Amino acid sequence: MKIISVVGARPQFIKAAMVSSALREHPELTEVLIHTGQHYDRNMSQVFLDELRLPEPAYNLRIGSGDHGSQTGRMMEAIEDVLVNEGPDWVLVYGDTNSTLAGALAACKLGIPVAHIEAGVRSFDRRMPEEINRVVTDHVSDLLLAPTAVAVENLRREGISGKSVRIVGDVMYDAVLHFGCRAESDNDILQRLGLERGKYILFTLHRAENTDDVERFELVMDAVQQISKSVTVVFPVHPRTRNAFGQSHLQYLDKRHLLLLEPVSYIEMLRLERNARVIATDSGGVQKEAFFYQVPCVTLREQTEWVELVEMGWNRLAPPLDVESIVSAVQQSFGRTGDTARQPYGNGRAAQQIVKAILEPRALGQLSQQAVEPGTDRASLVA
Ligand code: UD1
Ligand code: UDP
Repeated sequence: MKIISVVGARPQFIKAAMVSSALREHPELTEVLIHTGQHYDRNMSQVFLDELRLPEPAYNLRIGSGDHGSQTGRMMEAIEDVLVNEGPDWVLVYGDTNSTLAGALAACKLGIPVAHIEAGVRSFDRRMPEEINRVVTDHVSDLLLAPTAVAVENLRREGISGKSVRIVGDVMYDAVLHFGCRAESDNDILQRLGLERGKYILFTLHRAENTDDVERFELVMDAVQQISKSVTVVFPVHPRTRNAFGQSHLQYLDKRHLLLLEPVSYIEMLRLERNARVIATDSGGVQKEAFFYQVPCVTLREQTEWVELVEMGWNRLAPPLDVESIVSAVQQSFGRTGDTARQPYGNGRAAQQIVKAILEPRALGQLSQQAVEPGTDRASLVA
């Protein structure tokens, strides 16, 4: 059986590393990796392929950046050529980026079955480009690989319970379990930056709604500057955010206790996360990683897709509307803990569950009914 996986953005390399490795456990499966080229800086792309030992992509489409329509359209055109040429049995897409959408649309229009990893994740905010990508991808996918019970319920509400919905757990949890020990033994980022465990805030920001509105971006950065007066802030800067800096006066920030870094590798990031006092972010993946390491998190958004984390007390929303509320949300998170009894993201074997689901597509109709039955014990659905 031939499977084409479509990746293109940083978090997708991390997720694909786990699934790709699980696919290689099955000699009857061949994976062909397409890299759309959505992310292309070395530290947003190749670093992850190397560090996580992802197979070198068979196709790098080098699409690069662009407006949503042109970027997605160019990806679709190039992916379609590859699909026609390769004739896969399945196309596997990850998450919610333009690469996800392009892969799903190109495949479904050719009648090739699509499996969506991270199906059913919703913010319920259609102003976010990611939300459009998620909804459309789910509605054209044949196999919906949901990370959580909440995602399964979201799909049911959209009438997708009759499709092949399967709860598999979250591959980002697999990745933290798998690569986490390397993060502690295999890199010296804390020493290099002169950081001590529990003595800094880790901060990331890259959502278009936070970076592309100059007023909002400056408000967030004013808050970060204020926080850095009492505790060091470590800030690996995403390229979208780097562009935002270029358009504001913030290049004149006081950087004595605000460490602006280039994007770091995944292993370095895990080390920074695990040892942080608090993480403040608008990243989806980083919110979950904070929880995996039981580090309190502040999310700089109006809402989050990962509502379990807020319910469990590990995450707190701080919509970036004024400086004071961001600063106080971070300060009030010092020492905060949450529910440790629940593990909503599976058992660390989501990648194996995904491969199993792809290998047994006909069994999934029944599983999907079971998965959405109200009151069903989630754990019983993860084999
Ligand atoms: C994309 C995803 C977002 C995901 C994020 C992960 C979409 C719509 N958004 O956002 O869901 O959370 O990736 O990081 O797909 N740039 C570079 N070098 C690069 C990549 C980007 O300089 O290697 C710059 C370009 O100026 C580009 C901008 O960053 O225009 C934004 O990149 P893009 O891929 O469009 O969106 P992200 O913000 O990265
Ligand atoms: N990440 C990384 N280096 C960084 C910032 C983030 O390796 O400098 C990792 C992070 O640990 C997580 C993933 O990238 O696994 C999250 O990606 P991002 O925040 O870009 O996107 P999102 O998850 O919001 O889609």
